Amino acid sequence: MALKRVMVLTGGGDCPGLNAVIRGIVKRASQEKDWEVIGCIESFNGVLREPTEIMMLDEKTVEGLHMQGGTILGTTNKGGPFAWPVKNSDGTWSAVDRSDEMLRKLQYMGVDAVINIGGDGSQRISLGLAQKGLNIVGVPKTIDNDLSSTDYTFGFQTAVQICTEAIDKLVTTAASHNRVFIMEVMGRDAGWIALHSAVAGGADVCIIPEIPYNVNRIKEKIEQRYNKRRGYCIIVVAEGAKPIGGDVVGAQSSEVGYQHIKLGGIGNQLAEELRQAGVEHDIRCTILGHLQRGGTPVAFDRILASEFGVRAMELVINGQFGQMVAYQHPDIVAVPLEEAVKAQNLVDPKGELVHAAKGLGIEFGN
Ligand code: F6P
Repeated sequence: MALKRVMVLTGGGDCPGLNAVIRGIVKRASQEKDWEVIGCIESFNGVLREPTEIMMLDEKTVEGLHMQGGTILGTTNKGGPFAWPVKNSDGTWSAVDRSDEMLRKLQYMGVDAVINIGGDGSQRISLGLAQKGLNIVGVPKTIDNDLSSTDYTFGFQTAVQICTEAIDKLVTTAASHNRVFIMEVMGRDAGWIALHSAVAGGADVCIIPEIPYNVNRIKEKIEQRYNKRRGYCIIVVAEGAKPIGGDVVGAQSSEVGYQHIKLGGIGNQLAEELRQAGVEHDIRCTILGHLQRGGTPVAFDRILASEFGVRAMELVINGQFGQMVAYQHPDIVAVPLEEAVKAQNLVDPKGELVHAAKGLGIEFGN
């Protein structure tokens, strides 16, 4: 019986659980007699580069991967088959579409199907390639939890756990020094990490992109938390947050092929705005940054990632391409890629968790 070959890759920013998906795919494939799995290094770069960078994936290679953070395949959030960076003679860079060339190479390599594990940017690439006839299945990942067709992406719960533990630690130092602590967390345009960790960590203020803030409201909350001089206040701010009528804090990246604005700096900006508004307590800002993406996945993310891996491989076995696996409680379902990339999953300011947070006295600053 001729072996069929599925190629797996991880694209976009890494997140805890990627390895558990790879393990799920390989373990499920190994139950079939006619499928073998190869891994492509650094998203599609392994195919686009010469010499090709791929690795065989078998049960031995994936042993113990359920608990390992990062991705054994490597990843990148720059470039890709539709926008491959090429240096011009004057030193500037242009983006070149190499998708047709890549599809020809995949055919030459005997690749029958591809599983692309990645966030919204990666799934847009999956859609583009599916429209050109590639047999492709998507698996959603991101700590940001901002994909609309899945209740959760794996990696998110681990990031929330890391942020919650960070708040627990900040509380003791904040209380000892009577300080205001601002903790800046990731999430791009979505406030999910900030909202969940603010509730789990018992923060006083939660500032998210979906609810632009008025600094005076935050100042009032801080003053409530102090009895004259003594007290402390914990503020969680999402990196994509902005003041009412203002803009996000970030900068265009100078890294070749990086297409996003690099968000970051709102925590320190907010600290300065609070001082300007007359807050006289000490204010310190902690930026958790990439710590939120590191380390071992929590159990929820291991389970979700494993379910996604198994189901993605089953879609391949059944020839159901152009789909992305998704979690729609209590089921793992397949969603057409067109639908999967249509909208972002953002926090609803009128939603249940914002309501509960308000009930707990958490101030959103609006
Ligand atoms: O999308 C995941 C994410 O961690 C965002 O929360 C963050 O804004 C961005 O990636 C950081 O990207 P990089 O790893 O390129 O700094």
